[in-house]
Amino acid sequence: MTRCMRLSVFLLPCLLTTACQQDMARQPAYRPLERSEFFADGRASRPLVEGTVPWRGRTGSEPALTVYRRGPEYADAIRAAALIANPTMDPLVTLSLLLGPGTADYVDVPPIPIDKAALERGRDRFNIYCSVCHDALGTGNGKIVERGYLQPPNYHLDYSRGFERRGQKVLLRQVPIGYFYEVITRGFGGMPDYASQVPPEDRWKIAAYIRVLQRSQWVPLKDLPAEERERIRAELTPREEHK
Ligand code: HEC
Repeated sequence: MTRCMRLSVFLLPCLLTTACQQDMARQPAYRPLERSEFFADGRASRPLVEGTVPWRGRTGSEPALTVYRRGPEYADAIRAAALIANPTMDPLVTLSLLLGPGTADYVDVPPIPIDKAALERGRDRFNIYCSVCHDALGTGNGKIVERGYLQPPNYHLDYSRGFERRGQKVLLRQVPIGYFYEVITRGFGGMPDYASQVPPEDRWKIAAYIRVLQRSQWVPLKDLPAEERERIRAELTPREEHK
């Protein structure tokens, strides 16, 4: 074998691989909604087959159930459009648009009646989907966190990280209930969303159950019935005297 032949034996696979790589880079793939000469109607994206069931976003429930912010004027798309249409907008307004919705933008009453059965369903779903990280009481010490997952905030003591990012200090105890719905639907930071696992009606029931959990762990003394108040006072007094 001449030196040159040996070199070509070595180079041949390299050349072949390069050619192959270029073919892969130029696959006959379409981007969504691109034009195509291949199909008679000139569209690359094909119409859905009749009877297709959308998976993501499939609710099977009334649209009203999925509204967790007040009014369409708060939709993200409209915010963005307003900014683009009016770049000279008052800087403070622009800032609030960029930061995202404030507490007042979220609904604070669920659109479904919350009775005992709804709360029981909420507890059931919470224990299945949320407690693995947030734990059954919502203190943020679930099993997955014990194994090293990012620690979620404590529902009873911590400020909302979502609102903090928007420059607002709001305790999770005080965020409007529609915000819980949003976090379940869209996820937040290190938390995945549960839109495909939890249908809208159950999201509201979970949200309502979180409120109950919060109430169970943090109730002002004045909101308790008189006899409960007295019982707790009696229990607290010895400890205070002890100090
Ligand atoms: C896999 C773990 C995990 C599961 C399961 C989970 N979360 Fe979370 N959650 C987190 C983490 C982590 C954060 C904090 C994320 C961050 O700060 O980036 C968080 C944050 C939150 C917050 C607070 C957001 C804020 O503004 O501070 C709420 C409310 C919440 N989760 C609700 C839920 C609900 C309701 C469920 C069940 C449907 C759920 N989470 C399931 C991990 C989880």
